[in-house]
Amino acid sequence: MRIGLVGTGGVGRALVDLIGKRDDIELVFALNSRSGVGDQAGLDPEKLYDYLGRTRDLEGYGEGGFGAWRISDILNEYRVDLLVEATPTNKSTGEPARSTIRLALENGLHVVTANKGPVMLHYRDLKDLAEKRGLGFGIGATAGAALPTISAGENDLLGSRLLGIRGVLNGTTNYILHLMENGGMTYQAALQKAQEEGIAEADPTQDVEGWDSAIKMTIIANALAGKALKLEDAEVLGITHLTSEDIRSAKDRNKRYKLLGELDLEAENPRVVVKPVMVSHEDIFYGVQGKNKGIQYVTDNLGEFAILGGASDVRGAAAAIIRDILQIKKRIFRKV
Ligand SMILES: NC(=O)c1ccc[n+]([C@@H]2O[C@H](COP(=O)([O-])OP(=O)(O)OC[C@H]3O[C@@H](n4cnc5c(N)ncnc54)[C@H](OP(=O)(O)O)[C@@H]3O)[C@@H](O)[C@H]2O)c1
Repeated sequence: MRIGLVGTGGVGRALVDLIGKRDDIELVFALNSRSGVGDQAGLDPEKLYDYLGRTRDLEGYGEGGFGAWRISDILNEYRVDLLVEATPTNKSTGEPARSTIRLALENGLHVVTANKGPVMLHYRDLKDLAEKRGLGFGIGATAGAALPTISAGENDLLGSRLLGIRGVLNGTTNYILHLMENGGMTYQAALQKAQEEGIAEADPTQDVEGWDSAIKMTIIANALAGKALKLEDAEVLGITHLTSEDIRSAKDRNKRYKLLGELDLEAENPRVVVKPVMVSHEDIFYGVQGKNKGIQYVTDNLGEFAILGGASDVRGAAAAIIRDILQIKKRIFRKV
């Protein structure tokens, strides 16, 4: 399968690395904010991966490198089957990713994205467009990445109705809570350590204030339960107010805090609630430690089941993109 890539940052570069280890996916072009590189005969992923480790300037790549580009020109010039979109999340408008994804679908390309913005805001619209054209639209990397929330939901819930969702969906906050509980650290010290280890971002707001979890819960509900939930309707509280004393007193009661997302789909007005919750040994999420995550689906006929693991990192996100590409390839909406 021939693919093009928009966004060659952490996730995009990790994806290039994984493509280099396979022989069933061919990378034809790669673009970042100011430059790109393309080759109709396929790029050398190993060379590109090394190059991106040194500089972001793809114009200086050598043969095939170019400067400022327009996505419409790129899609006209290079023949690909699928576009991977991995640019930063804009949770107010979803742009410019939304327009890029639309254009790719209108041009008959399958799309896989890691970008939460367009998926949270415009999932139904984009999915409808893809379906109308018989194309795949993969979003697994937007809602838990290595944790297969979407693919398990799409495949394994078939024939049953989803009644509720619970999830620990943010690896960074789970790690911070882990450090506070097991290392006896204050919130600030744990955050700093997570930042030094490259786990928390320099600006951790989205994670520690609970928005990343709320976005993922919203995406999962909209994709799997056909809802049109909006982030602004969610009730969101992060972990920034938790003190060492809170953590200790939970531990004294054989409990621990988890930043838990919950959604009752049977409620009159279902809405996502994200907040720190004290869980006991009996709770499925008690054992989800470190950077790991977890999702629990409550269904009418399949009962309750959970998937745990999927620690956060760019390699896991890239692997989730590969998984979506291969699922699209397997379903073969059209012969490629
Ligand atoms: N990091 C993770 O573990 C993870 C997990 C799941 C999902 N995600 C999502 O995946 C996406 C990418 O994450 P990341 O960590 O790789 O981000 P990143 O390191 O900031 O990389 C973003 C890339 O997008 C490029 N870019 C920015 N604006 C662009 C535009 N208008 N057109 C084309 N390219 C543009 C950047 O170009 P320059 O190189 O020129 O700056 C860069 O190459 C985000 O939406 C993120 O939320 C990330």
